Amino acid sequence: MDRVNKPAPEQGIKKKILVTGGAGYIGSHVVKALGERGHDVLVFDNLSTGRRDLVLHGTLVVGDLQDLELLDNTLKKFRPDAVMHFAASISVFESVQDPMKYYRNNTVNTINLIDIVVQNGVQNLVFSSTAAVYGVPAQNRPVDERATLLPINPYGWTKLMAERVLQDLSDASRAFHYVSLRYFNVAGADSGGRIGQRYPVSTHIITRCLKAAKGELAVLPIYGTDYPTSDGTCIRDYIHVDDLADAHIAALDHLLGGGTSEVFNCGYGHGTSVRDVVKAAKKVTGVDFRVTEEGRRPGDPPFLVADPSKLIRALSWKPRYDDLRYIVETAWNWEKSL
Ligand code: UFG
Repeated sequence: MDRVNKPAPEQGIKKKILVTGGAGYIGSHVVKALGERGHDVLVFDNLSTGRRDLVLHGTLVVGDLQDLELLDNTLKKFRPDAVMHFAASISVFESVQDPMKYYRNNTVNTINLIDIVVQNGVQNLVFSSTAAVYGVPAQNRPVDERATLLPINPYGWTKLMAERVLQDLSDASRAFHYVSLRYFNVAGADSGGRIGQRYPVSTHIITRCLKAAKGELAVLPIYGTDYPTSDGTCIRDYIHVDDLADAHIAALDHLLGGGTSEVFNCGYGHGTSVRDVVKAAKKVTGVDFRVTEEGRRPGDPPFLVADPSKLIRALSWKPRYDDLRYIVETAWNWEKSL
């Protein structure tokens, strides 16, 4: 029998969840949320960009997704109820320079993982996808999940291909189900300052503003001031990482409750310009860091805002931190601690 949507499992029922990439920025916030709900968590991470000290709950297995034997043994021993798959390469710019790394890490590794997951009888998978699957949306309006899928960089294609594999497998199988979450601009950090974004090189605007406030970046360049937007700079939908973690918990509950395979946008449904992000960062940090106006960064869509209605409606997702000031404050508290 095909599964139908059923109510989420009762709160407090402990499940075994395997989290690939759980030592990374988003993965570690989801591991925190899983731990707070009493789930038994096993993190599988090669620590190439993740960090051991970001894993607040569960057990860490240091391993690479290309090590299929270790992955298979880990699944056989742990016998998870669900897998949450974060491990991936995430830089749009790097994906243009080195596409094969992205196809290997994001598409091939996902296919191998799915194969092993299915062979081990695991029926539920939550997948980290991205707004990059939409490319440049046709109009300056929030995009819903039915919008045209036309990535403009290898990163977006690698994720879209993995989504397609999941969809085809789910269509063909009566047992396997997945939820793909398409992230918009994820930012902020744990309110307690325990975990946050920590990449070797920061490309994201909020983190770069904070690096400029700390003096680690001499100047914050604004890439493009002639876009067809309210103040000429790009508009993005910044979502707090703990709200995104809640969306993962809702997706997991949906699958564990017997729910169908689904795709959801994750954002708040309204946008903020780069200039407004810079203003907020200056206000929160109290530092009037130097800003220059530069040309456009290749591959930036002018306007990228989620329509999150489906997530709110189908998974009863209730964002708690839809507040740019809070997002920047939590990121700043974390950044100061580094
Ligand atoms: N920006 C600057 N100066 C900087 C850094 C960024 O002006 O120093 C601008 C960018 O040009 C862009 C905006 O700030 O207009 C946001 O840039 P980010 O790099 O923070 O984020 P992106 O919107 O490029 O990236 C996000 C996700 C990706 C996803 C992409 C889809 O992080 O994973 O959206 O377009 F692929």
